[in-house]
Amino acid sequence: MTTRTKEPVIPITEIEHSAFCRTEDELPSKSLAEELKVNIRWQRIPIEYLHLSAQELDQRIHETRQKLGERVTILGHHYQREEIIKFADFQGDSYLLSKNAASRPESDYIVFCGVHFMAETACILCAPHQKVILPNITAGCSMADMASTDDVLDAWDDLSGVLDGHGGIVPVTYMNTTAALKSLTGKHGGIVCTSSNATAALRWAFERSDRVFFLPDQHLGRNTGLKLGLSLEDMVVWNPFKPLGGNSPEKLRKARLVLWQGHCSVHTRFTVKQIEGARARYPDIKVIAHPECIMEVVQAADMDGSTEFIRKTINEAPSGSKWAVGTEISLVNRLAKQNPDKTVFCLDPIICPCSTMYRNHPAYLLWVLEGLLEGQVVNQITVEQEAQHYSRIALERMLEVA
Ligand code: 13P
Ligand code: SF4
Repeated sequence: MTTRTKEPVIPITEIEHSAFCRTEDELPSKSLAEELKVNIRWQRIPIEYLHLSAQELDQRIHETRQKLGERVTILGHHYQREEIIKFADFQGDSYLLSKNAASRPESDYIVFCGVHFMAETACILCAPHQKVILPNITAGCSMADMASTDDVLDAWDDLSGVLDGHGGIVPVTYMNTTAALKSLTGKHGGIVCTSSNATAALRWAFERSDRVFFLPDQHLGRNTGLKLGLSLEDMVVWNPFKPLGGNSPEKLRKARLVLWQGHCSVHTRFTVKQIEGARARYPDIKVIAHPECIMEVVQAADMDGSTEFIRKTINEAPSGSKWAVGTEISLVNRLAKQNPDKTVFCLDPIICPCSTMYRNHPAYLLWVLEGLLEGQVVNQITVEQEAQHYSRIALERMLEVA
């Protein structure tokens, strides 16, 4: 058996998660020097960028962006702050952005305002001459950090040992993972998914095997399995710190869905109590949640879906409608602002942006763009060739089924 009992490791990104939580509901950017006071890990940046005000940053990003023209495409995930997203050529969820990344071969540079796994995916899908840049290299994802390559490789060896000769298992890997894990997935006949196509990807996998290994988000995996008609008894959780993930060989052989014990620190803050509170205040409220929320929340909500689904649903809803939203605050605030004729608010009264997405402060965007103007590429994201080859296979399977 490869997986031994290990000391549980909490990723630093998870520990730092609450750094930006606050009670007021606006999150306007301050100078980077001010924001650094929350005392988490940031990437070092030349000192001249530290004290620029929000207005100075905005003006200089605008001017630099104009000068760079088509040479640069800026992609912005829906969770980016206002002062960043306004410069994005494309905004979207992780699925849309992965497609957008491949749609601008005329740009030599793709500046990905999102998190590390998204930039890696762009690097895998875009043309070889294009360089992908992440403004702040410490913009990771606590969920992705909960599935280290070594732990997953150990789990895969153990699962194969227990299940070979018993129908095997197919990996379905959420976009929120390293390229190394997407590559493992491609190599072993699996598929990548995002929150917008998890049902289709899981169905694809069940057409090939009776059993699926879903990683790293147990909640997205569980919520999707239930949508496909599986029961909770069909599912087991794989704890990477216990031998055989904390399961017996018999239990694993009986399972249809093996769920990696990972979660999103932002979405697990939402509770059924918050939903009940919103319904008590507004009896005609609609509750919409991201499928990274726990099962009880997704089931208590009226609907669930990716960030793009949430954006589209609220933007297209009738005037006067009311929405309580279970997703990251930057997107919820934006939707509230863009829909003044509707009531839109976050289920959680404490305002907690995704702390890793939030690390892309405008000073970093300016720094990387001014670097490009001077012919200097900072924070380029690369993926080594073999990982690139197999990850691409798993991503292309996703693009075909979605
Ligand atoms: P989407 O694909 O829905 O944008 O989700 C990405 C993510 O990281 C949500 O936490
Ligand atoms: Fe990762 Fe959660 Fe942030 Fe999405 S919201 S990038 S899953 S930590």
